[in-house]
Amino acid sequence: HAVLVLAGGLSHERDVSLRSGRRVAEALRGAGVEVAERDVDAGLLASLRADRPSCVVPMLHGETGEDGAIREVLELMSIPYVGATPAASRAAFDKPVAKMVVARAGLHTPESVCLPHETFRELGAADVMAALVERLGLPLMVKPARSGSALGCTVVHDAEQLPGAMVNAFAYGSVALLERFVTGSEVAVPVIDDGAGPRALPAIGIRPDGGVYDYTARYTAGSTEFDVPADLSPEVAAECARVAVAAHQALGLRDLSRSDLIVDADGRVWFLEVNVAPGFTETSTVPLSVQAAELDLGEVVAGLVRFAVD
Ligand code: DAL
Ligand code: MG
Repeated sequence: HAVLVLAGGLSHERDVSLRSGRRVAEALRGAGVEVAERDVDAGLLASLRADRPSCVVPMLHGETGEDGAIREVLELMSIPYVGATPAASRAAFDKPVAKMVVARAGLHTPESVCLPHETFRELGAADVMAALVERLGLPLMVKPARSGSALGCTVVHDAEQLPGAMVNAFAYGSVALLERFVTGSEVAVPVIDDGAGPRALPAIGIRPDGGVYDYTARYTAGSTEFDVPADLSPEVAAECARVAVAAHQALGLRDLSRSDLIVDADGRVWFLEVNVAPGFTETSTVPLSVQAAELDLGEVVAGLVRFAVD
């Protein structure tokens, strides 16, 4: 039975997922693995039942993929899959929950406030906005609590921008996360575990031309400079690896994750978020990290598949 790469779905990151899925499927084929590809639609259950894939690689970003929903289905059908369990995925996908868990594990994550939409409607008065700005400082980050690819995220530079930024975040979900902005270098660190315990792959440095790593900077070739690997001292690189592995373990993740971190001017490493189905597109960082480690993408994913099936 073939390995099934699931990609697409109906989240806001559908297009990204299709690109990631294509890349993963091609890489697996290159490693000699028999692969089928499928989108997520109403026929999925029937086709899983009929085809019984040997393993599923859920390259679904955002809702249904990273929130654990499809993984729950795979568990119920006893079909092996690559990646975190439903419960761990759900926790990791929820940025406020993930931040709380990693903070308890002793990692640094920027101070934040979580604001549900109802609270915003009731308390969205100017004095509340002023209190938030006073608490978190400017600039500050506004993000949807549960989304990906920087959709709905805004860097707020002055207090007047805050209500608009929140409306933008609420377009992607009912809870907004307001976070202190940490100035520094953005790095992405994949963690893989194909049987020998979780290990970090080289950090990739991210330098968007426009200064902000937004959706366009993520998925338009040439709009972001990547340092492959990130330009870090050996001590800071080791600390980034430690933080990514610690976040992976604290959240009870499995097989594969990618932590997005900031290294500040003092070399302190801040956890922003972790992705349980990180992008594998032509402009995503995980394939660059695999390249920096002098590994073959197809072999890496095939190793994860073998570990998931065992
Ligand atoms: N959410 C996108 C796919 C990423 O983190 O790479
Ligand atoms: Mg993300």
